[in-house]
Amino acid sequence: MSVNSTLKSRQVFSGKNLSLLAPVFRRYRLRLILGFTALLGVDSFQLLTPRFIKRAVDALETGKASNALLLQCAGYILLLALGIACCRFLWRYLIIGFSRLLERDLRDRLVAHLLTLDSLFFQRHTTGELMALSSNDLAAVQLAAGMGLIASVDAMVMTLAALGFMAYINPTLTVIAVAPMPILAFSARFLSARLHRRFKRVQEQFASMTEFVRSTLSSVHLLKAYTQEQFQAEQFDRMGKDYIRHNLRLSVIQGLLFPFSGFIGNCSLLLVLFFGGRLTVQGTITVGDFVAFVSYLFMLTWPMTAIGWVTNLFQRGATSLSRIKHILEQEPELHDAVSSESFTVNSGTIRLNRLSFTYAGQADPALEDVNVVFKKGLVGVIGKTGSGKTTLCHILTRLYPVDEGVFFLDERDVNTLSLATVRATIAYVPQETTIFSETIQANIALGKMDASMEEIERVAKAASIHDEILAFGDGYQSRVGEKGVKLSGGQRQRIALARALLLDRPIVIIDDGLSAVDTETEHAILQQISSYLQGKTCIVISHRIAPLAEADEILVMDKGKIVARGDHQTLLAGNTFYATIYAHQTDSRARKG
Ligand SMILES: Nc1ncnc2c1ncn2[C@@H]1O[C@H](COP(=O)(O)OP(=O)(O)OP(=O)(O)O)[C@@H](O)[C@H]1O
Ligand SMILES: [Mg+2]
Repeated sequence: MSVNSTLKSRQVFSGKNLSLLAPVFRRYRLRLILGFTALLGVDSFQLLTPRFIKRAVDALETGKASNALLLQCAGYILLLALGIACCRFLWRYLIIGFSRLLERDLRDRLVAHLLTLDSLFFQRHTTGELMALSSNDLAAVQLAAGMGLIASVDAMVMTLAALGFMAYINPTLTVIAVAPMPILAFSARFLSARLHRRFKRVQEQFASMTEFVRSTLSSVHLLKAYTQEQFQAEQFDRMGKDYIRHNLRLSVIQGLLFPFSGFIGNCSLLLVLFFGGRLTVQGTITVGDFVAFVSYLFMLTWPMTAIGWVTNLFQRGATSLSRIKHILEQEPELHDAVSSESFTVNSGTIRLNRLSFTYAGQADPALEDVNVVFKKGLVGVIGKTGSGKTTLCHILTRLYPVDEGVFFLDERDVNTLSLATVRATIAYVPQETTIFSETIQANIALGKMDASMEEIERVAKAASIHDEILAFGDGYQSRVGEKGVKLSGGQRQRIALARALLLDRPIVIIDDGLSAVDTETEHAILQQISSYLQGKTCIVISHRIAPLAEADEILVMDKGKIVARGDHQTLLAGNTFYATIYAHQTDSRARKG
């Protein structure tokens, strides 16, 4: 389900969408008041200027123009121009600044909200889609709230005031001058509905392109290895062409709005030249009035043009705002228990009672009727690929919801405990290691930022990575990533293991966390960390039997079910799958040896 498919265009301008921005407007009200006062200053000074022009022209026409009078008019006009310049600087600084603050506020809210959402949400929305939202869409809202707001207020004030001054000169001529305007209003309304739809397409296409670039860059080595550069480039080119096509369709509408409003403005001018000229000849209005009238009409041309531009900005902003609002309205499906009581784990016993789990949109369950008790000590889990081992870990670390009466921690139903409480009792080494572009020290201390260097070194030694870290130029301060050291798969896994050991939590889950190191090293590491694991509930998942052989109990999984359980000897004697892979693994080791 994409952001757009759930949006109804009718909802775009609803007050609910705008209510999202209300707190920001309230917070920066002083800035806004000052900004709009400056804007009104610009408008008033602009509106006053033709009055002085009129005075000068009338004086010239009647032959009463003295040097002093002309100088006085010029002086006033200069003062007004200075006032316009100062006020224009002020409103730009204050109101464009406001729109940037609004953008920051919305971005912060978006990021903070995304961090509260769960795995289910991130399965439905691609990273590219969310990145497009926090770049293009936020920019569109910022533009609407800054320039859009200014232009609309400005256009409204200028229209009303210019019309007022024009009507003061001659009401009939004013009515004639504005006669073509309703055509403009109608066409702007008609075009803006199309504008909204086409802009939505453009944003959707941009989101797809962002996602494509992200996934291409993150797997660039693989694509090269498969010589897919050309294919990817062609695919991107096709997407780019589509993006251009959608943008051009949008430009057609935008392109129609501008010239059309300009054309209507010129029609008005034509009418004023003809009818106004006649009134001047007849002496109904003075030449000065005529010149001032034309000046006011020119002032009206800008708001008329602005109608198209502002409609455009607001449509884009509103479309983007509703996309952002849609995300902000998403609730985590994994409900957090509201519990103020503090909970400390005693025995660290996990009990699963008839646990079944099916991924959304999947027909077969990933876990089915799993009954197990994990107590202090080591439990190994083995099973074919896709048998549900990682899914089990994700349930244990509370990444997916469970029904009541299924998952107990220290005999407490986990649904009565907050997610953070449960997660804080578990040190988890996931199957897919994530290393951040940070120093090695920061990577190890991820869950315990204030850990001392001694603690960090101790866990690194236990995970057999200390010596390799020292061999990097800057030791623990070496940065990992593009501009820093490159880590091997095994090194990454051992850093992830050290990270989990540092947490010293009562439950430890290692999901195939040493698959990239050789069997001997894996065995050695598990021996070294055994002192860390003393008195803890440990669940170790592996495709190799050797590290599990000493476990108190080993679970064999197949198609989401626990199909056998027992210690090494029992399974060897009673489970064909276990006995077969054991024979296979010992055989290949013997051959290697
Ligand atoms: N996010 C997901 N959405 C839908 N189905 C999923 C998802 N993750 C896993 N599955 C499916 O659930 C089943 C169990 O997957 P899981 O990752 O738990 O297996 P596993 O035992 O950890 O496998 P491996 O040994 O390869 O790590 C598989 O059939 C897989 O295709
Ligand atoms: Mg797995």
